[in-house]
Amino acid sequence: MPQSPEPQAAEPQAGAPGPSQAAAADRAAAHERAERMRPRALRMFPEGTGPSPDPAGSHFERRIRSFQPRRSRVTTGQGEALKKWWPTRGIDIDGQRVLDLDAMFGGLPVVLEIGFGMGEATAQMAADDPGTGILAVDVHTPGQGNLLGLAERNDLSNVRVANGDAIILLREMLAPDSLAGLRVYFPDPWPKARHHKRRLIQPEFLSLAATRLAPGAVLHCATDWEDYAEQMLEVLSAHPDFENTQADGGYTPRPGFRPLTRFEGQGLDKGHKVHDLMFRRVPHAS
Ligand SMILES: C[S@@+](CC[C@H](N)C(=O)[O-])C[C@H]1O[C@@H](n2cnc3c(N)ncnc32)[C@H](O)[C@@H]1O
Repeated sequence: MPQSPEPQAAEPQAGAPGPSQAAAADRAAAHERAERMRPRALRMFPEGTGPSPDPAGSHFERRIRSFQPRRSRVTTGQGEALKKWWPTRGIDIDGQRVLDLDAMFGGLPVVLEIGFGMGEATAQMAADDPGTGILAVDVHTPGQGNLLGLAERNDLSNVRVANGDAIILLREMLAPDSLAGLRVYFPDPWPKARHHKRRLIQPEFLSLAATRLAPGAVLHCATDWEDYAEQMLEVLSAHPDFENTQADGGYTPRPGFRPLTRFEGQGLDKGHKVHDLMFRRVPHAS
């Protein structure tokens, strides 16, 4: 069979922007669009002093996202915490650099938590386990302020708050094998069938996450949506990079170290049953 030729990079025409100029122009355009839709909650922070709107231009990537942009009011306390702590404890997910987790957390093993919401459970876990660094990521500005405020009031030096899309954080800003664990507690359930494609826990996400988890590191998920729990169990059990920590191949009894989260409480109030799942990153194939 004739081989199709390798696609060639187009030669820039005279006067036309080269690839790096084009990429810079794309970034500038994405930034300008993001600035136009900059939520009121973020306008209180002059450029560079607080979380940026959509720092990596994630809204403009051709990709289905697991979150929906939300209008959200930042309280005075959350705004103060963001102003005070963002410069030293906040990280914009701009996709432009690989984070030095050792420097950031003073050599502690680091667990990534995706979707911390208002951050109460995150702060509790950080207080209970000061020997572990928590890199907590969400797109929700009031939650970022809330968690920074909790970290300040409780003297938690082992928490950093990342702003933006966790997929870009994993893909562009975390080194291979750099995570000692990954927590995904009560991810958006996207209950309508036509929205299931937005659910975070899917084979593609697991393949990406596996590359960032050190061998033996545990991915811990929890959900109060029965069909999402079944989906999680199915895709995690089928994934070659993960193995169930439960010998019977089922759900994990709720571990004592996971505090009740805000969304979990709401689910329990509705009579939902909660499932935890803990899967270990298998050793690299030699
Ligand atoms: C249903 S809430 C759960 C919050 C918290 N874990 C709890 O149990 O109360 C899910 C959170 O995940 C965040 N989220 C969803 N997809 C995300 C992504 N790709 N990157 C960062 N945050 C994300 C949403 O903004 C939301 O705050």
